[in-house]
Amino acid sequence: MSTAPSGPETHQVALIPGDGIGPEVTGAALQVLEAAGVSIRWEEVEAGAEVVQKHGSPVPDRALTAIRGSGVALKGPIGTPIGEGFRSANVTLRQSLDLYASVRPVKNIPGVPCRYQDVDLVVVRENTEGLYSGLEHRVAPGIVESLKIVTERASLRIAACAFELAEREGRPEVCTVHKANIMKLSDGLFLECARRVAREHPDIVHREIIIDNCAMQLVRDPSRFSVLLLENLYGDILSDLCAGLVGGLGVVPGANLGDDCAVFEAVHGSAPDIAGKRVANPTALILSSVMMLRHLGESAAADAIENAVHSVLADEKNHTADIGGTATLDGVTAAITERL
Ligand code: NAI
Repeated sequence: MSTAPSGPETHQVALIPGDGIGPEVTGAALQVLEAAGVSIRWEEVEAGAEVVQKHGSPVPDRALTAIRGSGVALKGPIGTPIGEGFRSANVTLRQSLDLYASVRPVKNIPGVPCRYQDVDLVVVRENTEGLYSGLEHRVAPGIVESLKIVTERASLRIAACAFELAEREGRPEVCTVHKANIMKLSDGLFLECARRVAREHPDIVHREIIIDNCAMQLVRDPSRFSVLLLENLYGDILSDLCAGLVGGLGVVPGANLGDDCAVFEAVHGSAPDIAGKRVANPTALILSSVMMLRHLGESAAADAIENAVHSVLADEKNHTADIGGTATLDGVTAAITERL
């Protein structure tokens, strides 16, 4: 599968359609990328809950090989059974490819209804360890233990990612979110690493905030935050909260970045409640593909798609149900491709 070549360079990108609404929203993103005239050779690979029976793993080796080969992937959401079954495919993918930084820009889209109109922050989440290390065991009947792993190496590199992002984007501050008052060793190490990196970036203000206070401050006045630096679990939870500040999961994109590979995906999951109905909002995945284009150096096409998305969403007749409208996935996608 490939989009129509137009530019001088053809990019090789792995494509994981995923589960639930994944194939619908990735299909929409592909149409939009094609309309923007970016030349991409897609290598489609399977991963997710639906391929476990076939391959014995939610993340088959072929998927990892394809992503390592191209260095870039666009990924739909993947479902993971709750409280049982196989290990999270997303955690496996992020750890196997060492995609240590989850970067999620959270910004108002003009016309998308929400409680705040001045949100412009980036969630930078450590993506490979913490409580998502997958180390759980039963100590005795009725007692289980889940290990939270925090390493100096992973904490330093995610802090560097946050401060470098702030510098690159002209953001004044990085706010490290922690619970080091209770988890003195694990969150204490994460915080200490952030302080060490902050000393190397004297032009960026380093603020520290305890996670419960941060959650409250975010819903009171999100404009007070610019870059949030968090360990894995806190980042997972607060990125959904932040998505809610600007209209919900249907509109917030994301990237999982490592030194060798980058996987672009929306913040949302496979949304089994609306899968197959073609009513999902494709915006989050389309904006994830905009992030992917910037990563590939295709900034003109990225700007064109972003402008088209903004102009389409400025009209409420193009709003899907998650943001209060009645438009369908195909209707929004067609409006964006026509605009391009
Ligand atoms: P979810 O994000 O799939 O859905 C939460 C709510 O948001 C649902 O009501 C859903 O309909 C709505 N929603 C999500 N995306 C939407 C979109 N694009 N347009 C309109 N509405 C949308 O979260 P949930 O239900 O907690 O998880 C479902 C499955 O997804 C689980 O198996 C979970 O493990 C997986 N998941 C996968 C992720 C990934 O692959 N990156 C991330 C989060 C969850």
